[in-house]
Amino acid sequence: MTGKARIAVLISGAGTNMAALVYASRIAPCPYEVVLVASNDPEAAGLKLAAAEGIATFALPHKGMTREAHDAAMEAAVLKAGADHIVLAGYMRILSDGFVERWEGRMLNIHPSLLPLYKGLDTHARAIAAGDSHAGTSVHLVTPELDAGEVLAQIAVPIVPGDTPASLAERVKLAEHQLYPRAVADYVSRWRNPAWLLDQLRARALALPETCEQESFGSAGFRVGEGKSGKYFAYFADRPHGHERIALLVKASGMDELHALVEDQPETYFKPAFYGARGWVGIVLDRPDLDWGDVEAWLQRSWRAVAPKRLTRLMDVAEEF
Ligand code: GRF
Repeated sequence: MTGKARIAVLISGAGTNMAALVYASRIAPCPYEVVLVASNDPEAAGLKLAAAEGIATFALPHKGMTREAHDAAMEAAVLKAGADHIVLAGYMRILSDGFVERWEGRMLNIHPSLLPLYKGLDTHARAIAAGDSHAGTSVHLVTPELDAGEVLAQIAVPIVPGDTPASLAERVKLAEHQLYPRAVADYVSRWRNPAWLLDQLRARALALPETCEQESFGSAGFRVGEGKSGKYFAYFADRPHGHERIALLVKASGMDELHALVEDQPETYFKPAFYGARGWVGIVLDRPDLDWGDVEAWLQRSWRAVAPKRLTRLMDVAEEF
């Protein structure tokens, strides 16, 4: 199966979260490895640790550089290291939109608050001043808007009497060191997580007109049409009979297409047991480079092959224009 995800960690300071990520990666089985630690501050303590751990490092002060030029240099180092994800761990720079957009879905950050509360700086002082019972930490995807991307994981941490921003920060970091490696590991391996794959598939299948979900022989199935007259157009198959992989079963146009697909792209398509004989093709879903646009197109085709005429007729008319 495919190798580990390759992450580049960007830091500006102590780098304790970076250290947590590195040490977690040394406990098998970990689905990622740290291939670069980079910083905008050559004095960042974390750089020395990374180097001592035999990890490639890169440092470039941002002073005197435009944001775009500095980001471009950091990005070049990330690409040179062959990283496929960027993990921000106390990287105290706002990133340019272009950089963020190029890495959308592949860049994560950890922020010391229970987002959406307290975006930006001084999170602990603000939580204490507000009289909150808990502070916390959030791992989120990075989008151009600061600290606003999808939250992937959170831990709440109590604020205790007498807490100062510094004492609270220290406690929150203990939680961060547990949370970040786990959240990164889950995220980079979601492509082979059956629950995540089914969620993705479900959202797309149920977005088609007049569809519903109905289990079939223990697998999730998706039907179009009303009640008993409805027909299945897709099945989610977690390691179907005779296969190791997680798959989507949809209708091919016939046996010729089915056999051609399996012959041309055996990594992607297969002839499933039982269903294959009736013209259903298996599409392997647990691939890191899976194109969800293709999956969507297959779902539409399959839906169209079995949907009642009154639904497809409207589409045929629409397509003529
Ligand atoms: C962490 O608290 C993190 O949430 C925030 O910056 C801090 C970095 O600490 N973004 P360290 O450098 O990992 O020790």
